[in-house]
Amino acid sequence: MAGSPDITTALASVPFFSGLNAKQLKMVAESGKELSYKPGDTIVEEGTMGVGFYMVVDGKVEVRKGSKVLATLSKGQFFGEMSLIDEQPRSADVVAVQPTRCFSLTTWVFSALVKQHPELALPMLKELARRLRAAQSSPAS
Ligand code: CMP
Repeated sequence: MAGSPDITTALASVPFFSGLNAKQLKMVAESGKELSYKPGDTIVEEGTMGVGFYMVVDGKVEVRKGSKVLATLSKGQFFGEMSLIDEQPRSADVVAVQPTRCFSLTTWVFSALVKQHPELALPMLKELARRLRAAQSSPAS
């Protein structure tokens, strides 16, 4: 359940949330919900409008564009931020490849959180830069 010690502990171990204190983490955990997926479930679909930001609590997901796997994300890694930032449709599919639990925040909770805690934007930008470099260095399809 979101807000449970389990989720609060999981969020505390994620670099993305490292700027938040215990009380703020608990608040974030209570503002979101935990979702479970089976292998093969599509969590985010390319081309649709996004309403959520997701953090992998455990399990594994693939970011896919057509038949190409852009990235594999696991515990502590996030996805779904791009549509929330630029208000454009989802840039890729995100599919569970193992039984996976995610913690999800709605657009409005996510935006309010980043506005209230601008320090959250920095780890997110670092991760975006890392993904851009990885995408640039991967062979063209
Ligand atoms: P969004 O566009 O909202 O939905 C699909 C998500 O996949 C996207 O946000 C990112 O979180 C993630 N994503 C897209 N492209 C990449 C990539 N090259 N590497 C890692 N993650 C990606």
